[in-house]
Amino acid sequence: MRTLYLIGFMGSGKSTVGKLLHEVLGITHLDTDQMVVEKYGEIATIFQQEGEKQFRAYETGMMKQTPDENTVVSTGGGVVEKQENRVFMKQHGFIVHLDSSYETIADRLGSDPERPLWRKNDSDKQQLYQRRKKLYSELADLKVVTDHKSPQSVVEEILGHL
Ligand code: S3P
Repeated sequence: MRTLYLIGFMGSGKSTVGKLLHEVLGITHLDTDQMVVEKYGEIATIFQQEGEKQFRAYETGMMKQTPDENTVVSTGGGVVEKQENRVFMKQHGFIVHLDSSYETIADRLGSDPERPLWRKNDSDKQQLYQRRKKLYSELADLKVVTDHKSPQSVVEEILGHL
């Protein structure tokens, strides 16, 4: 099967749903954040010492290593910022947008020190959320709303569309 790319805002469930899809479908699970951490170290430290631009370059490098078959990829929320990544995902796989409301995200994340872009003030975060939402929607082959749903039911919904 074609690779599944899970996209969506921070806290939308991409990592959890990716792990479950790996278990249910028996396909490889890759997590671009995890790949960056394994190769370059903690994300918050990269942002602090090398900046967001360098993090995006590392992230793009990892994205390019994802195979186009039998894999589910949990991406970082900002992977859609680079056109290069958008084109790559479109050409190599089936893109699923996990869509959560801003309220759900804020509830789930609270104040998370591991996510540098969630440390901004509320109005900046809302702006980022709105801008990204548009990018996710334009890119996705399938959108699944994840508010008030268990990861298992999100997975079932995705499976019903494959
Ligand atoms: C980011 C999201 C994070 C991580 C980094 C930047 C973003 O991944 O890649 O902190 O720009 O939205 P998650 O979406 O898994 O939190």
